[in-house]
Amino acid sequence: MPDQGAAAHRLRCIGCGAGAVQPRADWRCPACGDLLEVEYAEGAWDAPGLKARWRGRRAPGEAQDESGVWRFRELLPVLRDARAAVTLREGNTPLYALARCGREAGLERLWAKHQGLNPTGSFKDTGMTVAVSQAREGGRPWLACASTGNTSASMAAYAARAGLRSLVLVPAGKITWSKLAQALDYGATVCQLETDFDGCMRVLHAVIARQPMYLVNSMNPYRLEGQKTAAAELLEQLDWQAPDHVVAPGGNLANASALGKGFLELRRWGFIARAPRVSIIQAEGANPLVRSWREHQGRELTPVAAETRASAIRIGHPASWKKAVRVLRETGGHCTDVSEAEIAAAKRAIGREGIGCEPASAAALAGARKLARAGAIAPGESVVLILTGHGLKDPDYAREMGGAELAPPIEASAEAVLRALERA
Ligand code: F0G
Repeated sequence: MPDQGAAAHRLRCIGCGAGAVQPRADWRCPACGDLLEVEYAEGAWDAPGLKARWRGRRAPGEAQDESGVWRFRELLPVLRDARAAVTLREGNTPLYALARCGREAGLERLWAKHQGLNPTGSFKDTGMTVAVSQAREGGRPWLACASTGNTSASMAAYAARAGLRSLVLVPAGKITWSKLAQALDYGATVCQLETDFDGCMRVLHAVIARQPMYLVNSMNPYRLEGQKTAAAELLEQLDWQAPDHVVAPGGNLANASALGKGFLELRRWGFIARAPRVSIIQAEGANPLVRSWREHQGRELTPVAAETRASAIRIGHPASWKKAVRVLRETGGHCTDVSEAEIAAAKRAIGREGIGCEPASAAALAGARKLARAGAIAPGESVVLILTGHGLKDPDYAREMGGAELAPPIEASAEAVLRALERA
């Protein structure tokens, strides 16, 4: 096996099936306009050899080996020079047991993989390192995205790292200040538009049609390749024993698609005997996939006007819905939605285990609880939640949604504090 692994890849259209596609600027198929995905040459894989090699790279060494994404570079499209990868040492995120949340949900084996502990605080970094590395090798000076906040923070950081410029379009007043502050810190050009995320996406397409820019939204198939390495990393953490279920929140639906692609490829290539069911959870007010799945078995999707306090997943017209449907079908996953109150309760429960996450991430626990109640997940089955964003991404949420009552200031004396303790 060459050091750079499988690597021989091409882009295939998920709609018309055309292979070796030269993508349009919006990453869609020039023939039919559907999304593209990376496809690898089938061949013999030395799974045990690669597992040992990946483990070996966990020792401190070269930047590319310290990255939890590039450590698995045999699963990724090749760079001309792997050492030129634009990396902030993303990946390598912990897998936490959630014993109390599990007991409350009636699940005996519940874990959370915390992708919010990536360098900019969300799972986006695992994909961005691949997309931005590709952009830099391709000599693309400008990167661009529309975002509910995390993609922009991540893009801006990796662009800065690579010495590239970046343009961010965000819906005005609808993303958290923490995320906006990151993009500004990293030097992106930020435009707040008077519209929602879906409107930002439409404007961005019009911009890149007139001004060549490298689009890093998740239509970019290279991003999904990076994000899929979380599947390999999770399996490695579980000694290559796949869990029964992986549960992720869904917005633009790229992350669940990427994880599913990762699990299915690793099964096909002999790394695991079976893939977990990948389930997708949306907020009730932003649930186009759930409706599509319920009403049309995923054959068509009607966009919705999205509304949820979990701003990261406030998306009504998800780009990757067809890929997500395929993952649901091929892994036997479930798709359901949860209320604002269920998300808030789940976020508190995760917090009580000492783990901070974004509201959107907590939707995964809310969904797992609901699936367990409905009997779709059996008590003895192993479940891994994907926590997508860091708790500090949305510090106002706890106050606004209740559950974090800050008492008014009291007199500066031990007596006053002791009286407060009595009430605790
Ligand atoms: N969780 C968080 C914290 C997110 O930021 C996102 C997406 C998702 C879940 C959903 O992932 O879109 O792949 O289904 N945030 C995007 C952004 C859209 O612009 O930051 P998805």
